[in-house]
Amino acid sequence: MTAARDYPRIVTPPPGPKARVIVEKQNTWASTSYPKEYPLAIARGERAVVEDVDGNRFLDFMAGIAVASTGYGHPKVVKAVQEAAGKFLHICGSDFYYESFANLCERLAKLAPGSSKKRVFLSNSGTEAVEGAIKLARHSTGRPAIIGFLGAFHGRSYGGLSLTASKAVQRSGFAPFLPEIHHVPYGYRYRCEYCRGEDACTMRCVSWIEQELFTKKVPPDSVAAIFVEPIQGEGGYVVPPAGYLQALRELCDRHGILLVADEVQSGIGRSGKMFACEVAGIDPDLMCLSKGITGGFLPLGATLCSDAIHQEFAGPGRSFFHGHSYTGNPLACAAAVANLEVFDTEDVFGRIHGIAEQHAHRLPQIASHPLVDEVRQIGTIAAIELKAEDTGYFSSLKPRLYKFFLDHDVLLRPLGNVIYVLPPYSITRDQLDHVYDVITEALETIH
Ligand SMILES: Cc1ncc(COP(=O)(O)O)c(C=O)c1O
Repeated sequence: MTAARDYPRIVTPPPGPKARVIVEKQNTWASTSYPKEYPLAIARGERAVVEDVDGNRFLDFMAGIAVASTGYGHPKVVKAVQEAAGKFLHICGSDFYYESFANLCERLAKLAPGSSKKRVFLSNSGTEAVEGAIKLARHSTGRPAIIGFLGAFHGRSYGGLSLTASKAVQRSGFAPFLPEIHHVPYGYRYRCEYCRGEDACTMRCVSWIEQELFTKKVPPDSVAAIFVEPIQGEGGYVVPPAGYLQALRELCDRHGILLVADEVQSGIGRSGKMFACEVAGIDPDLMCLSKGITGGFLPLGATLCSDAIHQEFAGPGRSFFHGHSYTGNPLACAAAVANLEVFDTEDVFGRIHGIAEQHAHRLPQIASHPLVDEVRQIGTIAAIELKAEDTGYFSSLKPRLYKFFLDHDVLLRPLGNVIYVLPPYSITRDQLDHVYDVITEALETIH
């Protein structure tokens, strides 16, 4: 499919005739929950190219919201899934042992930051990894309260949604949420209410937790955990200032609070390291993973915690923590093990660093455009924040901008007023240059 630059390619403006049939049927019968930003009906994908049912080919810079880490249909991942499917499609991982389950747990535990031994609980998705962490944190500390962040996204199940505060519409109509969840401002320097105007970050947003929240509302000895995305994803790909995550770590240590890193989106190489916590040099007590682990094959989520916490939690008479029928599905485990092996055998980190360098090279020019407020970048993640939505300006711009992208054969996901470029790691230099040319042209053309 990718021979001799046969992409991007529009043969019939989407949605073409075959896509229209599928779009119409799905719009008639499927839940209306799905936003469906693009009227594309996908037929297949290979590395960074997706093809729709009418034969149009697009370069993908969404990576299935950071899922397609090594690219669509990596042959080694596909082969591993096919082989596993030929053996047994399912067996309850809570009840039986099998090799891929054991291998995956070992691999993830050894990859995790910090020197302490880790244990791994496998589930089915990012939101389930978060649910597991909430239960584990409350149960092992015996404390009820949890601190989360404004701008955070942790999934759509009730625990994850209770911690989520990136878009009010996601919570609208679903109250009441889990009690004792307290949201505080994130380390978002560009929009910081505490020290945006100052030369350097004062970490006032962290000291506020101790000096205000803990003294006036939430006693620290009632707090089980702080849940943090090391890079806020759905909140706009916000990279916190240097020292921020260390300051949270120290705060947690002072009060016996668990630090939970939700690396569902920032993990598996996105940040330039396997986990974004490693960029900051911190060792969280619990870590939530999903998305990029398998390169696209769900169900798979993982909650990691130190052996010490696990022992405390799983003491006599308290061994049952959590579980699912599909815990550690054998196909998902096989996909994950194969996908993580690709990191070793194909120098994926070499490619990740190449993507990071190219982002860093192309972003400054975009940053100087009058439509752009701020650009942010870390590893393979690049975010271009356009003039704020509250001016009403962006809402009229957004549909035209995204139509422009589609007409120019690139898939970029709209996220509020942020355009983010989040390619699979299989993206080539030319392909990444192409998207930057398209974004530049879009900003020049559309006012
Ligand atoms: C940081 C974070 N946590 C949790 C989730 C939920 O993961 P899932 O969609 O697999 O339930 C997401 C999804 O985008 C996420 O970005």
